Amino acid sequence: MQVRITSDAPASYATGALVIPVFTDKLLDGIAKEIDKALGGALKDVLESGEIAGKPNELAVVHAKDAPYRRVALIGLGERENFTPHLLARLAGTAVRTLGKRNVATLAFVLPDEAEAGLMLAASALAEGAIAATLDATTYRTEPDRPVVAHEVALFAGSFDRSALDAGIKRGIAIGEAVNFARLMALTPGNDMTPTHLAARAKELAAEAGLEFDMLDEARMAQKKMGSLLAVSLGSDEPATLSVMTYRGDPSSKEILALVGKGLTFDSGGISIKPAESMHEMKYDMCGGAGVIAAMYAIGKLKPKLNVIGLIPSSENLPGPKAMKPGDILRAMNGKTIEVINTDAEGRMILADALCYARELGATKIVDAATLTGACVIALGHAASGVMSNNDAFVTQFLKVVADIGERYWQLPLYDDWDRQIKSDIADLKNTGGRPGGAETAAAFLKNFVADVPWIHLDIAGTAYLESESSYLAKGPTGTPVRAFVALVEEMAKNGASATNGKATKAKVAAKS
Ligand code: BES
Ligand code: MN
Ligand code: ZN
Repeated sequence: MQVRITSDAPASYATGALVIPVFTDKLLDGIAKEIDKALGGALKDVLESGEIAGKPNELAVVHAKDAPYRRVALIGLGERENFTPHLLARLAGTAVRTLGKRNVATLAFVLPDEAEAGLMLAASALAEGAIAATLDATTYRTEPDRPVVAHEVALFAGSFDRSALDAGIKRGIAIGEAVNFARLMALTPGNDMTPTHLAARAKELAAEAGLEFDMLDEARMAQKKMGSLLAVSLGSDEPATLSVMTYRGDPSSKEILALVGKGLTFDSGGISIKPAESMHEMKYDMCGGAGVIAAMYAIGKLKPKLNVIGLIPSSENLPGPKAMKPGDILRAMNGKTIEVINTDAEGRMILADALCYARELGATKIVDAATLTGACVIALGHAASGVMSNNDAFVTQFLKVVADIGERYWQLPLYDDWDRQIKSDIADLKNTGGRPGGAETAAAFLKNFVADVPWIHLDIAGTAYLESESSYLAKGPTGTPVRAFVALVEEMAKNGASATNGKATKAKVAAKS
């Protein structure tokens, strides 16, 4: 998909579809009015007829036979006063997906006047949404259903600030591509997407984005005494991998942000095997890892002034003669012993050693993302990812940054109460704390491996993939948390990473006993 800015006038622009946003007030702005006039009032007619009300992602198409543009697509943006830049990602996605499946190869977008206030982000969202919409989720079909043929998108510069638009498009292309890389990795089934293959993808994308790459194989993991990570792949013939992608954006600084992503290429549950019902979806259990790989790619392309390392522990959780068993006790890299209560609580076990390793590599802040618990899906559904942290300042900064990016995050508490739930009778920790507070006890487990480094845990079990398609996104993996990672890195680069430094703080609310 080509995305570019044009200074040409919309009225004389040759394209498959001119895309004009409409709000629920159904008012036609400057350029739209001009086009409406050229079409003899056809746009006004569509709006007055009630064919669309301007609600988000509604679409009406008017053919413009004798104009240089072949069609005009009116697409809803909702209420004018609620406009925010990221809505343009969905608008562009709706346009590209819907029209692109109807044989429209080129589109040109008119920005609403409201975009002026956040112009860079508006252009970024538009490019990102257009690119994300083109992803073909049926690459394993001998023939795809109705391919999205749209391959060129233009954005009218009009009287907007050209440099902000240029910066936005550049950002949107990097994020859109990254999001699609993450989604394609996730779509790749477990028989092809093994831990070794995931590491190879990380290496490829690192090279493409100019990042350093290192991979720990099982022998190196054993040297590092990563007993927890190593245990999860014991039942599988596929060896575990730990990929490390390094971006040095601020060599003079000691600050290092570590992004850590769970890369379970398939989670059967192991000996504590899952029911068959939705087990096939557990090929998506590497979405956190794919998100880290993809975000690192975007960061390499965008070059923010911040040191960032990406760590992707990856393994396959299968039952087998050598598989870990309930009751087994393992020792993680930091020496803590873990009693395995349920082999299906494997994500926290591979993350444990990756978090220790992030600290060894000098991480001064850590964010992890994982499809970690069904409990988080019960708590927040598919509407938001769960956020847990040991540091109030860091998590406050994060929540502010991600408030308006098109991915939703909702904080859950990290009370001391949960620590008791995961205390083992025989070892330091148990790997599960029972059903109550399942998302939080998982986070409480991870907390043991970050020491006092400010840390945020993102549980993306409900948001990493969706079971239904929308007008702007194919069914399946969503690319969460790539946008959040990039936005956080940009913010930390802008403000200096040390802004939220300090000791880990406990959750404000005192534990009840
Ligand atoms: N990968 C799953 C969590 C999951 C569930 C992700 C549903 C996406 C959708 C994770 O490894 C797991 O199995 N968690 C267990 C933990 C339990 C055994 C404490 C769970 O949530 O049931
Ligand atoms: Mn599991
Ligand atoms: Zn899992």
